[in-house]
Amino acid sequence: MPEESTPRRERKRTVQQMVIVGVIATAIGIAIGLTIHWFPPADSTQADKIDTLWDVLVIATVPVFVLVTVIVCFSVLEFRMRPGEENLDGPPIHGNTKLEVIWTAVPAILIVGLVTYAYVVMRDIEEAPAAGNERVVTVTGQQFTWTFAYNEGGKKFSTAQLYLPAGQSVKFDVKSKDVIHDFWVPDFRMKIDAVPGITTHYRVTPKNPGAIGDHPIVCAELCGLGHAFMRQTAHVLSKADFDKWLQKMTAKPAGGGGGGGGGGGAVDAKALFSAGDADTGATACATCHTLADAGAKGQVGPDLGKVLKGKDAAFIKQSILEPDKEIAPGFQPGVMPSNFGDTLSAEQVDALVKYLSEVTSK
Ligand code: CUA
Repeated sequence: MPEESTPRRERKRTVQQMVIVGVIATAIGIAIGLTIHWFPPADSTQADKIDTLWDVLVIATVPVFVLVTVIVCFSVLEFRMRPGEENLDGPPIHGNTKLEVIWTAVPAILIVGLVTYAYVVMRDIEEAPAAGNERVVTVTGQQFTWTFAYNEGGKKFSTAQLYLPAGQSVKFDVKSKDVIHDFWVPDFRMKIDAVPGITTHYRVTPKNPGAIGDHPIVCAELCGLGHAFMRQTAHVLSKADFDKWLQKMTAKPAGGGGGGGGGGGAVDAKALFSAGDADTGATACATCHTLADAGAKGQVGPDLGKVLKGKDAAFIKQSILEPDKEIAPGFQPGVMPSNFGDTLSAEQVDALVKYLSEVTSK
C-alpha cells in the first residue's frame, strides 16, 4: 500500500526530483538531437524546410520520450515489491477521469499540431513555380539503372546521368519499366516510388550556387539483385554551363530509338569505349571491361577480347542493348546498365559494334 508505506512529503520530494531529472534529460536530449548531423548537405530549397521540420520533430518528441521513460523508471522504483510483500495484493485501481482526459488531450493536441505543420510544409515544397519557370525531366527506372529524358524546345534526348541548372525548379515525372524502384537524391531530400504503369512526380530547386557540383542518386526500393548498383549522379551546373550543355545536346542527332538526324560527325568508337560520353554521362565500357586494343583493364565485367571472340555483329549489338539476355559464365545479370539503347545514339551503338567486331576478330 504505497499511501501508507511512503509519507506524503517524501513522495512529493521524489516527484520533484523526477521532474528535475526529466528537465535535464530533455535539455541534453534536444541538444544532442540538434547537434547530430543526421543528413547530407541540404542542397535544394526544399531541403531547408524539411530539415527545419525534422528539428521541430526532435524538439517535440524528446520531451515525450523522456516523460515516458522517467515515469516508467519512477514506477518501477517506487512501486516495486519489497521483502515481505510477496503475498500482498495490490491496491484496487479505479478510473481517474481528470488524468485520462489529460493524457488523451495532450497527445491529441500535439499530433494535430505536428500533422498540420507537416502538411503545410508538404504543400509548400510541392508548390509549382510561376508558369514557364520549370523544366520537366522524365526519370525512368529499370533493373538496374535510371534514364533521364529531356524535351527541350521540341528536341528530345536521353542521358545516363542527370544534369540540372542551379536555381531553377525541375519537375520529375517518374516511371518504371519493370518493378518498383524509388528515385532519391539524398542531398535534395525528396524521394518517390517509380511504379510500373503510373507516373509519379516531385519537384526540387537545386540551390544556387550552393548545389553546384555532383550529388549521388540512389534507388531506395529493394528492386532485385542489382539494387545496390542502381546509383547514378546528378550534376548541378551553373545556369551558363547548363545552357552550354543544352546547346551541345540539342545540336546532336537524336539518341537511341529515335534514329539519327544529320550533322553528328563520325563517332570515335575507341574514344567512346575508353572514356564514355561526357555529354550524356554514359559510362565508359573500359570502366568495367578488359579490352587489349583500348588498353582497358576493367574487372567488373567479362574480358571482351575473350567473350566476343568470333561473335557476329548481331550478338555484339545485343550484348550492348540487352546485356542481360546472355550472361558470360561467372558473371551476374543486372550489373551492366540496360539503357545504352536510350543514352547512346544509333550511330554510337553501330560504331561500337563495328569497332568491337574488328578488334575481337583478330
Ligand atoms: Cu531499383 Cu532498387
